[in-house]
Amino acid sequence: MAKTKLENIEACVFDAYGTLFDVHAAAGRIADDLGPDAEAISALWRQKQLEYTWLRSLMRSHVDFWQITGDALSYALDKFEVSERDAIHRTLMDLYFRLDAYPEVKQTLTTLRQAGLKTAILSNGEPKMLAGAVESAGIGDLLDGIHSVEDVGIYKPDPRVYQLSVDRLGVPAERICFVSMNPWDASGAAHFGFAVARLNRMGVPPERLPGDIAAEIKSLDELPPLLGIGG
Ligand code: LAC
Repeated sequence: MAKTKLENIEACVFDAYGTLFDVHAAAGRIADDLGPDAEAISALWRQKQLEYTWLRSLMRSHVDFWQITGDALSYALDKFEVSERDAIHRTLMDLYFRLDAYPEVKQTLTTLRQAGLKTAILSNGEPKMLAGAVESAGIGDLLDGIHSVEDVGIYKPDPRVYQLSVDRLGVPAERICFVSMNPWDASGAAHFGFAVARLNRMGVPPERLPGDIAAEIKSLDELPPLLGIGG
């Protein structure tokens, strides 16, 4: 992937879950209660959560992301036959409402804003859960907008979702740098027309999906330099 700078970018739009907020932080907090399957439960929870968004979009049977997150967790807890299932479900959902942000998030947003760029979140998340995560991360003042798929009633990677940020920010797609750790979301956003910086913390291979990814970064710290900010 070329390390060239992205030019003429006016706004950075971030995916939320997996990109700004660590989706595995919830299970991590109660790993002792979950036992040796903690990581596998968390991974299945996430996998099912995403599958349900894609499948419900195809079925045209939308429910919001809080409902989907709870349904996916029920599946994962059943699959691993977790004891005290209802209490664990409540605890994990509560923790999911205020997930940890990755450590470099605040500084990255601050740097982008100081350079005059607009910043926003574009997420599958429903507005209350996004507000909860943003508040617990203390990044509300660093964002120009929090855009939720609830305003279009379908999940990523439907192009109508990406269009939301274009409309809300009043910035053309090619001047928006979209950042996502979810490779399929990065591809969907690139196919839509955003300049995409794919966040790839784990060094996983490129997706074989439509959409040209403009750049790849390993941490959000690498974003300002990619945009020609701060050296
Ligand atoms: C989101 C999901 C994809 O925040 O993580 O939109």
